[in-house]
Amino acid sequence: MSTEVLIVEEVLVESASPEEGVISVWTLNRPDKLNALNSDSHIAIKEQCVKAESDDNVRCIVIRGAPPLEPKEGRRAKPPAFAAGADISEFSGKNSDDVRPFFEENAWEAVWNVSKPTIAMVDGFALGGGTELALSCDIRISSERSTFGQPEINLGLIPGGGGTQRLCRLIGYGRTMEIVLSGGMVSSSEALQMGIVNRIVSHEELESKTMELAMEIASKSPYVTKVAKRVVRGALDLPFSEGILMERSEFVALFDTEDKEIGVSAFLDRSDPKWVGR
Ligand code: COA
Repeated sequence: MSTEVLIVEEVLVESASPEEGVISVWTLNRPDKLNALNSDSHIAIKEQCVKAESDDNVRCIVIRGAPPLEPKEGRRAKPPAFAAGADISEFSGKNSDDVRPFFEENAWEAVWNVSKPTIAMVDGFALGGGTELALSCDIRISSERSTFGQPEINLGLIPGGGGTQRLCRLIGYGRTMEIVLSGGMVSSSEALQMGIVNRIVSHEELESKTMELAMEIASKSPYVTKVAKRVVRGALDLPFSEGILMERSEFVALFDTEDKEIGVSAFLDRSDPKWVGR
């Protein structure tokens, strides 16, 4: 399926179990505007989140930015981008009543709330809402030529897509404050050092390495993958002792699933597990 601002492709997972598993690859498709997220992008992303949630075949989601187009005659090439933020042209002349409904129902939370694994594949600028979209994913793989940041302060704003909260939980208070208050750019190597991204690969290898990881994740039991995501998320919201209790209770509950028996038997038989997803 494809819309103007978001291209959705399905990549078949080889030997998936249950069968017909796919990785859903979403490409933010406004390369002329460095894939800045406008209202239509939010609507398209939210629609895809609903679809992916209800489609049992979707085992993992990869979000990326469309590469730059060939420059027009005599014009300079635009830089690569994951997303250079929310579309600033939509901010002009708006007051709080205008923007509140939009920010209450935004794509960053929709992606964050998907129960399936999500990977941001970042090549180029990921600024403002772009960094925030990457932070809404579970895992971030970056090319060496990427740049992160929360430059909203330069516009007289603060991050509004969860950046202050998710960044703080990911990299801590001091580093978040530096990024949010300075509005400065963070190179991919700094992002790696801080823990904003999981790993850096060359831009030539970015797609293959990201898809390799997505395939690995998509080969697990889709039921257990969701449990794992839910339980790790618990660490962000729950007091430590409650998180430990939640983990234990979910771990024990897995002993009533068919996939636990399938996984353990496959290990003992030295065969590949054929998950049933329950
Ligand atoms: N919203 C709307 N349009 C954007 C945008 C955004 N967040 N970021 C880039 N664009 C547009 C530019 O207006 C330009 O459009 P045009 O060619 O029609 O004039 C096009 O994308 C290319 O951007 P440009 O600024 O010319 O590229 P550059 O290489 O000189 O600079 C950036 C790249 C990322 C440094 C610069 O575009 C930038 O600072 N963008 C805004 C980042 C930001 O503040 N994001 C947070 C928003 S809340």
